[in-house]
Amino acid sequence: MKDLRSVSVQAIETDIALLLPHGVYEIKPMEHRSRLKSIAFFCIALAVSGIVGFGYFCPDRVCALSTRGYDALPTVVNDGMGRPLRNINSKIGLSYDDMINDEFSFDMNSHDVIVFLHMQKTGGTSFGKHLVHDLDLKRPCICPSDRKRCYCFRPHSNQSWLFSRYTTGWQCGLHADWTELTNCVDQKLDEMEGHVAKRRYFYITLVREPVARYLSEFRHVQRGATWKGSRHFCNGRPASIQEVPPCFKGEDWEGVELDEFMYCDSNLAANRQTRMLADLELIGCYNKTYMPSVERDHVMLASAKRNLASMAFFGLTEYQKISQYVFEETFNLRFAVPFEQNNSTLSSSTMPTLTPEQAANIARLNSLDIELYSFAKKLMFERFKRLKGRDKNFAERFKRLGELPLKNGATEFDWDKLEDDAVQSA
Ligand SMILES: *[C@@H]1O[C@H](CO)[C@@H](O)[C@H](O)[C@H]1NC(C)=O
Ligand SMILES: *[C@@H]1O[C@H](CO)[C@@H](O)[C@H](O)[C@H]1NC(C)=O
Ligand SMILES: *[C@@H]1O[C@H](CO)[C@@H](O)[C@H](O)[C@H]1NC(C)=O
Ligand SMILES: *[C@@H]1O[C@H](CO)[C@@H](O)[C@H](O)[C@H]1NC(C)=O
Repeated sequence: MKDLRSVSVQAIETDIALLLPHGVYEIKPMEHRSRLKSIAFFCIALAVSGIVGFGYFCPDRVCALSTRGYDALPTVVNDGMGRPLRNINSKIGLSYDDMINDEFSFDMNSHDVIVFLHMQKTGGTSFGKHLVHDLDLKRPCICPSDRKRCYCFRPHSNQSWLFSRYTTGWQCGLHADWTELTNCVDQKLDEMEGHVAKRRYFYITLVREPVARYLSEFRHVQRGATWKGSRHFCNGRPASIQEVPPCFKGEDWEGVELDEFMYCDSNLAANRQTRMLADLELIGCYNKTYMPSVERDHVMLASAKRNLASMAFFGLTEYQKISQYVFEETFNLRFAVPFEQNNSTLSSSTMPTLTPEQAANIARLNSLDIELYSFAKKLMFERFKRLKGRDKNFAERFKRLGELPLKNGATEFDWDKLEDDAVQSA
């Protein structure tokens, strides 16, 4: 084992910034006593070096550390914890690295909230149902048959720990994206709960192979879906009709052919995942004249990657089992069912019928998503490898994923009764 103590000492003496990504991570493998010692060390150093400037550029990572040294570091902890700060990195609360590095756990008893960013045709409906129906919880979600949604309340209060379609509904707009959620969730929850609270947010999402997703969206629209209810809110207003002109006249686009679908410039299906994960305020929202398109693409992709990497969790539609495992390990929660790998998601069934031209067009239209997906895949497997490496019972656990006596399952209910804008938005 490396001499970890000297690592942290050195970090304190030289530059606090050094502590940020590495110090915290290095502290983890230490045995408990020396860890406490180094935390004490850390606290003293903090006090000495003056907390003034620190709070300002204290990133999530260090603020997360304060879950351990809560009493010792009140000034740091109180620094906007739970509020999405205007600062870009902390806008979505705690990241995966915070949670893993700090042996941090999602605290349902406190003010922690999971926010599910659900992008169209990524398998989010099934995942959203698993969240309300299949988690092994002290206080399971309740889905009353006379209500269109479920209550997923904290053990000791009637406050929701889950912000999603099946619990809070589309409070921030139909299939709200990163830009909409980060500017809305906190305020909405304050409104719903009737008081202002400091919460910690844990963003989660699913990412899907872009060509399959695009085709799936195409088929959905061809059957009459529109997502007309989406507001595309950004920088204080919804996108205007000039910014996103409708691709069709009339009620919907039922019966549209693939070539026509691809030909519409303002079709938001193209690169949907990148757009929905990026901070659109950076690129002037839906105003395409705000910056040259090459730059726009570049910034949007970079922002989407950064936001994805900063989320507490993301899963890949094509890797249900791995996604389930990573979710469970990250949140220290367990599902009582194994996630099913839908075979139809693996082989996009219309693929063989595409002409080479069409295939090339789809790839061109979704080039940002394709790059984002390859980034996501790489990151996912790194995370999986790391979690696997620290899990002594990995083989057994992975084999029996989801095999839990359903002692705390949610009340039985009929999914058809839940609000399911299937035609509009599934
Ligand atoms: C919470 O909700 C349940 C039913 O939904 C109700 O019976 C109970 O009184 C509520 N508790 C509080 C503290 O409001
Ligand atoms: C779009 O951006 C351009 C360039 O910054 C600006 O001149 C124009 O007013 C913007 N359009 C809208 C509708 O905000
Ligand atoms: C699997 O795919 C079928 C048809 O494509 C769909 O009806 C079903 O809802 C999917 N199931 C899941 C769990 O995604
Ligand atoms: C998916 O395919 C695999 C092998 O091709 C098969 O073993 C499995 O039963 C299929 N799953 C479903 C839900 O059809």
